[in-house]
Amino acid sequence: MKRSEIKQVLAEANFGDKVLIKGWVKAFRQNRFIQINDGSTIHNIQAVIDFENTDEATLKRITTAAAVAVTGELVASQGQGQKFDLIVSQIEILGDADPDEVSKTILQPKKHSLELLREQAHLRFRTNLFGAVFRIRNATSFAIHKYFNDNGYYHIATPIITGSDAEGAGEMFRVTNFGPTDAPLNEDGTVNWSEDFFGKETNLTVSGQLEAELAAMALGKVYTFGPTFRAENSNTTRHLAEFWMVEPEVAFNDLVDNMDLAEDFLSYICKYVTENCPDDIAFLNERELKEDQAKPMAERNELSLSERLDFVINNDFERITYTDAIDLLRNSKPYKKKKFKYPVEWGTDLQSEHERFLVEKHFKKPVIITDYPASFKAFYMRLNDDGKTVAAMDILFPGIGEIIGGSQREERYDVLKEKCAAFDIAEEDVWWYLDTRKFGTAPHAGFGLGFERMVMFVTGMTNIRDVIPFPRTPKRAEF
Ligand code: 4AD
Ligand code: MG
Repeated sequence: MKRSEIKQVLAEANFGDKVLIKGWVKAFRQNRFIQINDGSTIHNIQAVIDFENTDEATLKRITTAAAVAVTGELVASQGQGQKFDLIVSQIEILGDADPDEVSKTILQPKKHSLELLREQAHLRFRTNLFGAVFRIRNATSFAIHKYFNDNGYYHIATPIITGSDAEGAGEMFRVTNFGPTDAPLNEDGTVNWSEDFFGKETNLTVSGQLEAELAAMALGKVYTFGPTFRAENSNTTRHLAEFWMVEPEVAFNDLVDNMDLAEDFLSYICKYVTENCPDDIAFLNERELKEDQAKPMAERNELSLSERLDFVINNDFERITYTDAIDLLRNSKPYKKKKFKYPVEWGTDLQSEHERFLVEKHFKKPVIITDYPASFKAFYMRLNDDGKTVAAMDILFPGIGEIIGGSQREERYDVLKEKCAAFDIAEEDVWWYLDTRKFGTAPHAGFGLGFERMVMFVTGMTNIRDVIPFPRTPKRAEF
């Protein structure tokens, strides 16, 4: 008999159908009821065995976490909350799971902390929670490709090994073939990179943007979606050393077009996930409500997960310039009561306490902050007519902080060259980037969405390490 997946059985089968199911035992009660899950859905199927006619040896091997193949007939379930019971005619143990070993792991069916689950990331896929999270992560990724494909964008592969530093920040991972002690040195004692594999200093990329811009200057609308790497030592719930970024880049778009695109895109993803992962979202929604009940009022979510997704689908984001945001903050209660730890002054970057106030307390919705001072934004952002600010945009989400960073790009050759000089970027390192401004340059804009931060938003998970299968963070590269 051909194997059926549980998702398909629950959706399409009829009473009386004979099916073959393969999956893992979630629980075995009263020597009779086996809960089986195969990953196709959050729902289990309940197999019912006739223990009097099952041999002792087999019965003993039906343990939590064991892999089984079950053939049987579907009947109306006696239990609550499920349509079918699977009356077992044949059961085969495909892989045993020793209860003593299981009891030492998170496979033991009881509540485990997220920290413990992280330490056993090889097994956490088996939990209901991580099954739901990773099915939703998959749907989010698919939604992103679908959105761009349906809207005429081309997916561009940008390099992971790069010789340029797109963001101008000193926080990259070096790629080298030199051994720990055998790097050839120049006379002044510095490493002679010209003898290394690529004949120059190379790193893991922090962004595919600069290369995406080159493609946009011919193909019009493109996007990249790949892993990016940052060696910043930020041990926070929102930073990974290896994360995925989605970067659309569009010729002839200005900053307003860029904001419109980002809003439409984010709301599409929320809608797609809501429509295509209803069971997993319902599970996470319930879980969050339960967790919230154990928390003091002030720490509970004002909106449930589903309500937050609906909010993004149905409402426009707030748009405010950096300069207006500074004014607003300086007139706010926490500022006047000296509750902010960091200064609020035009020309300094906003800290997360300021962003949270704007998004979570003041506007109570996603906020797009635009036109930041040129001094602390990347060299490629387009200089505004005031000569002080750039056509930048950051999108801030409740509970997440910055989810998108982007800008209109500096398309004027002379201005861009001046910016390189001001930011100490050697022209010979980015000659190819500067070149596009010489041959039919045009206004263009784009942004980068932190994929894991988006998955945090659509799952309601509050630590970024719980939305990527194998997180890479300072001092941690296990698995
Ligand atoms: O704001 P960022 O640094 O922008 C860029 O890299 C631009 N080149 C994007 C572009 O315009 N094409 O990063 C973009 C987003 C952030 O808003 C954040 O969501 C995410 O990437 N991000 C991180 N996510 C997880 N861990 C980290 N360490 C992250 N750093 C940035
Ligand atoms: Mg940013």
